[in-house]
Amino acid sequence: MKNFKVDVKNVLGTVTREQIDSFNGAGANALNLLENGTGAGNDFLGWLHLPSSISKESLTEIENVANTLRTECEYVVAIGIGGSYLGAKAVISALSDSFAELKPSNGARVLFAGQNIGEDYLYELVELLKGKKFGIVVISKSGTTTEPAIAFRLLKDLLVAQEGKEFAARHIVAVTDANRGAMRQLANAEGYKSFIIPDNVGGRFSVLTPVGLLPIAVAGFDIKKLVEGAVAMEKATAEANDENPAYLYAKTRNALYNSGKKIEILVNYNPKLHFLAEWWKQLYGESEGKDKKGIFPASVDNSTDLHSMGQWIQDGERTIFETVISVAEQQHELRIPCDEADGDGLNYIADKRVDEVNKMAELGTALAHIDGGVPNLHITLPSLTEYYIGQIIYFFEKACGISGYILDVNPFNQPGVEAYKKNMFALLEKPGYEEASKAIQAKLK
Ligand code: PA5
Repeated sequence: MKNFKVDVKNVLGTVTREQIDSFNGAGANALNLLENGTGAGNDFLGWLHLPSSISKESLTEIENVANTLRTECEYVVAIGIGGSYLGAKAVISALSDSFAELKPSNGARVLFAGQNIGEDYLYELVELLKGKKFGIVVISKSGTTTEPAIAFRLLKDLLVAQEGKEFAARHIVAVTDANRGAMRQLANAEGYKSFIIPDNVGGRFSVLTPVGLLPIAVAGFDIKKLVEGAVAMEKATAEANDENPAYLYAKTRNALYNSGKKIEILVNYNPKLHFLAEWWKQLYGESEGKDKKGIFPASVDNSTDLHSMGQWIQDGERTIFETVISVAEQQHELRIPCDEADGDGLNYIADKRVDEVNKMAELGTALAHIDGGVPNLHITLPSLTEYYIGQIIYFFEKACGISGYILDVNPFNQPGVEAYKKNMFALLEKPGYEEASKAIQAKLK
């Protein structure tokens, strides 16, 4: 079995080793700022030693609640958005059978809501849940985010109407702030079981809190192994040297950024990683995209997207670099059959594993892109198991903290996210937004 590894040799045609190492001081300084809690946003560093500080008892408590929902419900809807959604979605997608929803299940199926305001999405979800035993995990740190609040209102009403208040109270679990916010008040008033999102962990860094762990456990995955993997990566990313994959990745992407590579494309060759990339985009986009700076995080799912985005990546503006996540070992083995007629001309790869073909697509693409002026960072992920997914999650979080400090931004705030909310509330004439409503209506005339 290969180990988790970051390889930067295929960026060296664009930046030199010296250019990468010119960030040694800044990288070491960033690690110190994180470790000593002396950098910008230092009240949001609860994620830093989270893996090693989670107790077995708290994981067992999450598992117990998850098991109740899993065994007593046909569906459990995880309601949340942004950092209160993407981590769980990413991990569950990475670990699930690709067709799980169409196969028999030995426990509740986890569905997601509150991550959009699609009327049809919510209508169709309500229709699906009519007459079904379902539970709700409602996740909101603030307790006031519009999207999950709408979904929760709809589903709570349905659950109470179908099963009565008592069943609803026993099958709604809130993950929210310890003291503040509407969800905390409601959970206390209605007697919902609840878990706390620590004050010092921001949404996009919260997947290893009950925000992510509870839905992941409801979906039937081993959260203790997930945390074990994260603990191993916490240890591996402690020191400022190139054995530390987070330090190496953070330095390298900053060297590339300084050389004019403004867009990072996270590339996977395994469709189960689509949502890991979505989670990564929020992590890096919200952490670094500020003060008119920051690498734009994009992603592709290959080889699918080679047939759509491949042209641009090979030949478009040379402002991109790629970070390829390569999954070393697959969970299953499947060989390409031989065909006597060979009408499709595939017999030259007959009997090869499908993954061997995929790996050659990966290698061939990397070589073509490097030749085309697209530097390639390479991450080896040994396999899609809880342990290694825990590793890569913590790896990206730690690298994000280091990279943000190297870039000299506060990686732990997100002031830009408020702008759309203010406009939306003004347009909806939310109480308290009267002046903003007038101003925005005048703008629209
Ligand atoms: O990273 C963030 O802070 C955001 O993406 C939030 O997680 C998201 O807006 C949801 O917020 P809340 O959990 O307060 O509903």
